[in-house]
Amino acid sequence: MSELITNIGELMTQDGELGTLRNAAVVLEGERIAWIGDAGNAPAADTATDAQGRAVLPGWVDSHTHLIFAGDRTAEFEARMAGESYSAGGIAVSMNATRAASDYELTRMALGRVSEAASQGTTYLETKTGYGLDVEHEARSARIASTVADEVTYLGAHLVPAGMDADAYTELVCGEMLRAVRPYVSWADVFCETGAFTPEQSRAVLTACREAGLGLRVHGNQLGPGAGTALAVEFGAASVDHVNFLADSDFDLLAQSWSGWDGGAGERGTVATVLPACDLSTRQPLAPARRLLDAGVQLAIASNCNPGTSYTSSVAFCVTTAVLQMGLSVHEAVRAATWGGALALGRETGTDEDGKRAVGSIAVGHRADLHMLNAPSATHLAYRPGMPLTHQVWRAGVVV
Ligand code: NIG
Repeated sequence: MSELITNIGELMTQDGELGTLRNAAVVLEGERIAWIGDAGNAPAADTATDAQGRAVLPGWVDSHTHLIFAGDRTAEFEARMAGESYSAGGIAVSMNATRAASDYELTRMALGRVSEAASQGTTYLETKTGYGLDVEHEARSARIASTVADEVTYLGAHLVPAGMDADAYTELVCGEMLRAVRPYVSWADVFCETGAFTPEQSRAVLTACREAGLGLRVHGNQLGPGAGTALAVEFGAASVDHVNFLADSDFDLLAQSWSGWDGGAGERGTVATVLPACDLSTRQPLAPARRLLDAGVQLAIASNCNPGTSYTSSVAFCVTTAVLQMGLSVHEAVRAATWGGALALGRETGTDEDGKRAVGSIAVGHRADLHMLNAPSATHLAYRPGMPLTHQVWRAGVVV
């Protein structure tokens, strides 16, 4: 089956060569994008959708979420709004509720969250374990995650459960727990922060997970200055996420990590993933997205949907915040939330030949993941903050 989407007012492809097109059309063939060009020259297809001048973007690529949880942390949020600061300790509340939930409940809730995200334009999504925190429940979280998300990250190193020795727990994370989750995950992450895992413990986790063949990411510099970003770069992690409290040397390390990359080939660096909804919800200083971009660092924007620090999967909200409060242009923010997310997940390339189609940009052979706005341009995401602008979403060619 093929579908022609025509009369697109603004087609923001996020493809280096195509750029942003006006009065454009796209043809989808099954799960792939088959044709892109001027609406006046569009070929016929089995079905046609008239965009009536609306804007079309790549679907959001949400490269950082924590969707496998049960329980409620509204009280913690209320306390924070009343002046308390965020601490990693709240993770234990979610851990207890998650362990108590059945497989069915956990799966149903996770699917509900994925479907909320999809209805707002997210077409590719990563999620993590991290609320199980013992071998049985981390493995269960990983298994459930692998049935609901596109990419799964092992985050056994999220918090040391109360009553456990931190080094003994780190050994478990690096050994038995890692072996139990391994069949379900392709990434590993560590929360390298005061109150979570020390640099030495983080190093042990990253080493073991790299040896197990997992790609790496790091929760770094969320709550204060520290070693997270430097460790991420040292280990060649695909991303370091949060990056609120960076030293000058962290900017340099991140920028240097991209110096051998020419946009397609060459050695990839570490993407800095900023999480604007989390920054607002924890009343933290906003991550320095503008300075990172100006330094030459590749940027992703993600929702960080989780029950503690960012209970939203609205990438549009994050993009709006990045424009209005972090100093990004609309194009830069949309790019970070589409192509940038794909880059952080190693999914920004791939066409017909390798069978693993690129996501996060619109080009022939890429996966047909499209987000049509009920607006003539992507600028409306920032110009009309908070408005429900998602009009229609295609995921792998299928209307969501
Ligand atoms: O990315 N920073 C660590 N993990 C989550 C929050 C986890 C929680 O409080 O439940 C985050 O913000």
